[in-house]
Amino acid sequence: MIYPLFLQEGEQSEAIGSMPGCSRWSITELVREAGEAHALGVPAVVLFPRIADDLKTPSAEECSNPDGLIPRAIQALKETHPSLTVITDVALDPYNSDGHDGLVSVDGRILNDETIDVLCEQALCHARAGADIVSPSDMMDGRVAAIRDVLDAEGFEDVSIMSYTAKYASAFYGPFRGALDSAPKSGDKKTYQMDPANAREALREAKLDEDEGADIMMVKPAGPYLDVILRLRNATILPIAAYQVSGEYLMIKSACAGGWLDEKRVVLESLLGIRRAGADMILTYFAKQVAQWHRDGATK
Ligand code: PBG
Repeated sequence: MIYPLFLQEGEQSEAIGSMPGCSRWSITELVREAGEAHALGVPAVVLFPRIADDLKTPSAEECSNPDGLIPRAIQALKETHPSLTVITDVALDPYNSDGHDGLVSVDGRILNDETIDVLCEQALCHARAGADIVSPSDMMDGRVAAIRDVLDAEGFEDVSIMSYTAKYASAFYGPFRGALDSAPKSGDKKTYQMDPANAREALREAKLDEDEGADIMMVKPAGPYLDVILRLRNATILPIAAYQVSGEYLMIKSACAGGWLDEKRVVLESLLGIRRAGADMILTYFAKQVAQWHRDGATK
């Protein structure tokens, strides 16, 4: 299990209204929360920053600021918990005043190739701060090869790439965008994220990512896309990750808060289904909770 964690600037943490049970942590509290999860057996975290509005720009410069929120968080985590695997998200949406994962032209198009240069700077900044794995979630074409080249050239051969290989243009990301205030200001993400009706495109993306040097392939969302996980499982020998996203989390949380479903059993079954489909690792907001249940012997 990989535990996605949100963070923000300052000493205060804040509960996330759209994701009950999740918070945007201060760096200090992030280190504590990640440490607790790690002590329970969670091997890895992935970080998502809430960036202050006045730092968001059309060219997203803040994404590669070596003194930015993410590099400082990586350093703090690695210093305190050296055995915790720290994964970072590579995409521009938290930093971009347009709210898109890529740079946007004056006429509203996503600038694929120009974006890749910025993503490379961002990935390099994370590697320099000590990230173990960088995880491009932007869906630009060609970014895995470009990031691999830059990392290798700068001496970061050991930093791995977990690529969002099959990331669908999904309505299930809504609560996440609320958590980070990162929804697109105009348009949608359908020109770079995938068409939910298209399964074969995932195989094309997988072939490209494999050729470009991805170490791990991800399918996202997870629950509504179990067939895609299985297709990729049959098409590659690379490890496959699946992301049980914010909307999947919220559906379970709200049904259980109403007393309509048994939270522990439903969470475990939802993860088991993703595992059965062929995922080797699962990104889930339930990671710490599940590790706790496991520790208590309650997952039998
Ligand atoms: C954006 C990103 C998103 C998520 C992870 N990275 C949202 C999006 O593509 O709009 C969603 C995760 C979730 O919903 O839990 N780079």
